[in-house]
Amino acid sequence: MKKLTPYLLIFLTLFWFGFGSDKPQLTPEELLSARVDSVLSLMSLDEKIGQLNQLSYGIGWGPTVKVSVPNEYKELIKEGKIGSFLNAIGAEFTYELQKIAVNESRLKIPLIFGLDVIHGFKTIFPVPLGEAATWQPEIIEMSAHYQALEAASAGIHWTFSPMVDIARDPRWGRIMEGSGEDPYLGSLMAAARVRGYQENLSNLNIIACAKHYAGYGGAEGGRDYNTVDFSERTFRDVYLPPFKAAVDAGAHTIMASFNEIGGIPSSGSKRLLTDILRDEWGFKGFVVSDWNSIGELINHGFASDLKHAGQISLNAGLDMDMESRSYITHLKELEDEGKVDEDLIDESVKRILRVKFMLGLFDDPYRYCQKEREQKNIMTDEVRIAALEVAKRSMVLLKNEKNILPLKKTYKRIGVIGPLANSKTHPLGGWSAMGDSVDVTTVLEGLKNYVDKKIDIAYAEGCKIDDNSTAGFKNAVNIAKKSDVVVLCLGESRDMSGEACSRSSLDLPGVQEALAKELKKTGKPIVVVLMNGRPLSIPWLNDNANAILEAWFSGVTAGEAIAKVLFGDYNPGGKLPVTFPRTVGQVPIYYNHKNTGRSGDLKNHYTSKYLDLPLTPLYPFGYGLSYTTFSLNDFNLSSGNLTEEDSIIVSVKVKNTGNYDGEEVVQLYIQDLVGSVTRPVKELKGFKKVMLKRGEEKSVQFTIHEKDLRFTTADMKFKSEPGKFKAFVGANSADALEKEFELVE
Ligand code: BGC
Repeated sequence: MKKLTPYLLIFLTLFWFGFGSDKPQLTPEELLSARVDSVLSLMSLDEKIGQLNQLSYGIGWGPTVKVSVPNEYKELIKEGKIGSFLNAIGAEFTYELQKIAVNESRLKIPLIFGLDVIHGFKTIFPVPLGEAATWQPEIIEMSAHYQALEAASAGIHWTFSPMVDIARDPRWGRIMEGSGEDPYLGSLMAAARVRGYQENLSNLNIIACAKHYAGYGGAEGGRDYNTVDFSERTFRDVYLPPFKAAVDAGAHTIMASFNEIGGIPSSGSKRLLTDILRDEWGFKGFVVSDWNSIGELINHGFASDLKHAGQISLNAGLDMDMESRSYITHLKELEDEGKVDEDLIDESVKRILRVKFMLGLFDDPYRYCQKEREQKNIMTDEVRIAALEVAKRSMVLLKNEKNILPLKKTYKRIGVIGPLANSKTHPLGGWSAMGDSVDVTTVLEGLKNYVDKKIDIAYAEGCKIDDNSTAGFKNAVNIAKKSDVVVLCLGESRDMSGEACSRSSLDLPGVQEALAKELKKTGKPIVVVLMNGRPLSIPWLNDNANAILEAWFSGVTAGEAIAKVLFGDYNPGGKLPVTFPRTVGQVPIYYNHKNTGRSGDLKNHYTSKYLDLPLTPLYPFGYGLSYTTFSLNDFNLSSGNLTEEDSIIVSVKVKNTGNYDGEEVVQLYIQDLVGSVTRPVKELKGFKKVMLKRGEEKSVQFTIHEKDLRFTTADMKFKSEPGKFKAFVGANSADALEKEFELVE
């Protein structure tokens, strides 16, 4: 027996299962299970536990390109005690690590390499919140495809993306990593990203990981990692749908979140990791913990020590331990003591092996580590053009008084001012993997290249993003005075959003607003370009700037994209995927809120309102202007009654009534007027982005089915309830035409 290599054994097992005989052929799924079982049957308990262990290769935080393999890791790989690395990068280096696993460990089981490829590997695309502002799942899918192509060419098999957490609180810095506040939009974006990363799992794709499961965006006070506590109904109707969509789209992995929900930390929640994920949704992939989230069960007061934590997590259904070393240190002992069942360990190992087989790593462990491919596929013109396309489409025009935009090509001089005007680092945004500031085009560079010396471009930094010095104001004001128009680039630094980057204020940091006020005194028109990873409260800018373009952190092509949009080569058509409050005091604020018993009447004292603020946000969800204008007319429902078997066709005519070709996102919202539980004032149920030439009119249609009206009812079933509904169509969530219909039994 000893003389047989493990792979010969696998071959014999497969032979036994039907290959080479006249027994019926196995289906691909059966073949996969047979291959997985055959490997499992060879494994010792130690080797099984090794597969559940994931360590970070990096020395310290973040990706590390190429350093020599520390002896500790070499030994662990040889002993079969590591199933996966995160943060080990590069075709050559991952090859070195893989070689140890394949040549020197007893069973030669290949390693799987993961990395946070959140909005690009080397060619950095806009941050995910910006990408969501495209309202174009097909564009998001393309973006994920190119991100996968680059990562896969650098030895990476697996991205810890998409981040699909719904976020209703912009103080939470991780709002930047997701698709905003809405479950419907978030679900479409989640599925699109999963498709884009995974496609057919050739060696040019990587597997996706929907995170952070679940409820992480509901952190109290917007403070990262904080307690989450909302009703089961809100959890199911608002926070879970994007995860379900990612699972339905075929996501092979899920990451358990750091937070607790209602007293149970996700990383120790059997209800979440097994009952809902596997039993209800049929998820077949594996669950990885977040970084040391198993160890953090101790800090939560849910486990007494690391051993207890491992026991809870494994029993809950958490398969792979990222960095806590709880499994590798304690699982064997827990199994001996009967606190963890070997069958359960087997299930986790099988899920991980299954993914390794699907990636083709048993057939060719080095299929992702080809140096030539790495040189060929990364930072190519093709990927950069794709990033530019996404960046242009991510931008949202928030204000455009008297059509100050697009900028006129007849201007003599443009003043480009502000702490983000010539920044090469901030446009990368947070979580920018191997993104490098040398690849970034700044706004200043972008505008200079665009005008090609035909317009004089003068630059002043004005102030820093976040300090109190006003020393640069004078120069900025002088430049503004001599310019026809000021392009003022304001916002946050890239490290103000992302993990552990919660803010208690949503105002522009530092003295940026004061700079804007000084520039306003010059009387010159001011076009603000915002770069940020979260909604900001900018009422003064809204009242005083002539135009505002929300550009987010738009990646390596930021400057090119912004120049093209400002000059009208591309007419912005993005829409906000999240509400912008007037001030942080309105938070949480989101469009799909409930009515209260006392909504609405601002003149009546005893109503639900603030004494010092309007109820409305600064910019509502779904909002965004264009250089042209649109009208919506002839809104019709094909019937006033809907049945379970039937559908209603919603139609509306959208016309381009302005002077430019442009795109409008026509949005369909529905309100369930009376329910067994209270219902949101409206919920997004469909949208279409339509391109219209000047003067052109098109008819847009949506279909409403009974299933679109389902929610978690009083008896905790997911179903619809007969009764009256309103359908709204509009160009944003606040400004819409409406009609009633009835769901009849
Ligand atoms: C983050 C995850 C990330 C992981 C690995 C954690 O701190 O919460 O989103 O995937 O680190 O880098």
